[in-house]
Amino acid sequence: MGTMPAQPPTDAARPRILSGMQPTSDSLHLGNYLGALVNWVGLQEDFDAYYFVADLHALTVPTDPEVLRRRTRVTAAQFIAGGVDPERSAVFCQSHVTAHAELGWVMNCLTAFGEASRMTQFKDKTAKGQNANVGLFTYPMLMAADILMYDAAYVPVGEDQRQHLEITRDLAERFNTRFGPTLAVPEPYILKESAKIMELTDPTSKMSGTNSPDKGLLLLSDEPNRLRKKIMSAVTDTETEIRYDPETKAGVSNLLVIHSVLTGTPVTDLEAQFAGRGYGDLKKAVAEVVLEAVGPFRSRMAELLDDPAELDRILARGAERAAVVAAATMTRVRDAVGLLPAAR
Ligand code: TYM
Repeated sequence: MGTMPAQPPTDAARPRILSGMQPTSDSLHLGNYLGALVNWVGLQEDFDAYYFVADLHALTVPTDPEVLRRRTRVTAAQFIAGGVDPERSAVFCQSHVTAHAELGWVMNCLTAFGEASRMTQFKDKTAKGQNANVGLFTYPMLMAADILMYDAAYVPVGEDQRQHLEITRDLAERFNTRFGPTLAVPEPYILKESAKIMELTDPTSKMSGTNSPDKGLLLLSDEPNRLRKKIMSAVTDTETEIRYDPETKAGVSNLLVIHSVLTGTPVTDLEAQFAGRGYGDLKKAVAEVVLEAVGPFRSRMAELLDDPAELDRILARGAERAAVVAAATMTRVRDAVGLLPAAR
């Protein structure tokens, strides 16, 4: 062996957590931020955290290589600008820890064809007539590998990832039943309030970097004026009352949730605070709190992207730390399933 692997500067007894985001747009949006990133930042205090850019998953969407490279760096920079501390948490690219793809294969071989066919993401995309590749079909098994590689106790994600976590738990249990106790069964960490931020132009659809129109998306890289404009023209309803009711008042409810999560004010307090006031007032207040949260973020992101070599060094250090854990898991997995130990 060459140099000693980097050791995580964290207490080894701390449980591990892991999560990832795909670099499939030019910027993360407020849904990624509130649904996941905010929790990543909070959890890194108490857990040994692994946060990665899911660049292998992004290959399921055909993308220009130069664009993919740029988006991968932007996504990593946004993790850090949003508060992930790369000294404390491992920040890395999925493709740099090649064991993810290996364990993904093992997971494929544990998954029934029918089981994979029932995954909603695959069903939805193929139902829309999208020309799906096999990578999209096996996407959940690679995601299971990402998680099980690190014996993650919790996986902080938004609501849309729940089914993926369920199949991950099933696969871990199946592996352990068939081959003996080897993999930790993870728990989802999905916070009810922020788990599904809706798009501003159609508040019945989730905010999505790949499906929402630009006007419906609050991008973390948007100029303050742009963010304000998008919020001021958010679709609401024909009533006047500011009340949380996602069934009949999806737009107003979404704005209340955004405000509530960013300021830590319970929605019922906000309802009281805005009683008798108009939607314009609510939107102005939401714009204020969004700008306050995203303002410092933009300058930090620009700084990080100005120095891609330093960003790449951070990613390399993160991958080195992750690879130490991944190698140990792969040794256990190889042994359990009957693959000969890899030569050193
Ligand atoms: P991705 O890249 O689609 O989304 C990244 C994270 O943002 C959350 N999210 C939302 N939360 C609330 N409201 C929204 N409108 C919203 N939109 C997105 C997602 O739930 C997610 O937490 N398959 C994953 C990436 C992945 C992964 C993993 C995650 C690959 N391997 C292992 C966890 C563990 C994905 O496509 O997320």
